[in-house]
Amino acid sequence: MTPSPLLISDRGAVRTITVNRADKLNALNATTLDALHAAFDDAALDANVRCVVLTGAGPKAFVAGADISEMNALTPVQGRDFSLRGQRMMRRVEKMPKPVIAMINGFALGGGLELAMCCHLRIAADTAKVGQPEVNLGLIPGFGGTQRLLRLAGRAATLELCLLGAPIDASRALQLGIVNRVVPAAELDAVTHAMADQLAASAPLALRGVLECVNVGGECGIEEGLEYESAQFGLIFSTNDMREGTTAFVERRKPVFTGT
Ligand code: COA
Repeated sequence: MTPSPLLISDRGAVRTITVNRADKLNALNATTLDALHAAFDDAALDANVRCVVLTGAGPKAFVAGADISEMNALTPVQGRDFSLRGQRMMRRVEKMPKPVIAMINGFALGGGLELAMCCHLRIAADTAKVGQPEVNLGLIPGFGGTQRLLRLAGRAATLELCLLGAPIDASRALQLGIVNRVVPAAELDAVTHAMADQLAASAPLALRGVLECVNVGGECGIEEGLEYESAQFGLIFSTNDMREGTTAFVERRKPVFTGT
């Protein structure tokens, strides 16, 4: 039997999804793209899940890219479909209504960096390397890399990574704003899960509001973005968690959020 391309486990309200093709450095073939899409659909709908951690199996790689041997045989039409398949899955990750943290435990190259960039927060081991090396294969990024890197880190960094194709180390990725934190490899799991636990204990509807405002705001003008934020701000006053959070502050106690 073919092993599942993913490992999925829950601890409390934190779900960890691990791409499980360590012998291929967790490269994304079509089966893995579809399994990830289904896993994020499921995590989005599961009310017990309040935060997702995404990582790669084994000590070497988060995800070393789209599967090069699978792409090698594709026709132009199949190439476009492969790109759309990856883009749709990654858009699903980006539009998750709960926070997703990429725990970058090694190489995040090509589709691996594209996948990490869809996550809402990125924590990298100090040993990790990230890049968009597609030009070295005569390719270009096809899962949103040129677009998301541009929005995340700007034109200079995007052209540097995508034109030169050379991976950069975690500290340079931090400097460019591509990752949020860099931690010693031995501490990666603990630091990431501590952050995930904090998010899982936070007010889910407030987190969702932030994610939606940032997603919408990243794709529209300031006037529409501000208007959308005001509407979301008004809506949050209908939640029990808003009453609980503000009351707990006044009463000098810790709030208990229920997601209602
Ligand atoms: N697609 C398919 N298979 C991949 C892969 C990818 N993106 N990246 C790694 N692999 C496979 C290798 O073919 C090898 O398989 P094999 O043992 O059956 O031959 C296995 O994973 C281990 O990789 P290997 O190259 O032997 O490891 P390494 O430590 O010498 O090098 C990398 C690591 C990341 C530098 C190297 O694997 C690499 O350059 N990968 C491709 C990165 C890339 O271009 N990604 C963008 C794709 S569009």
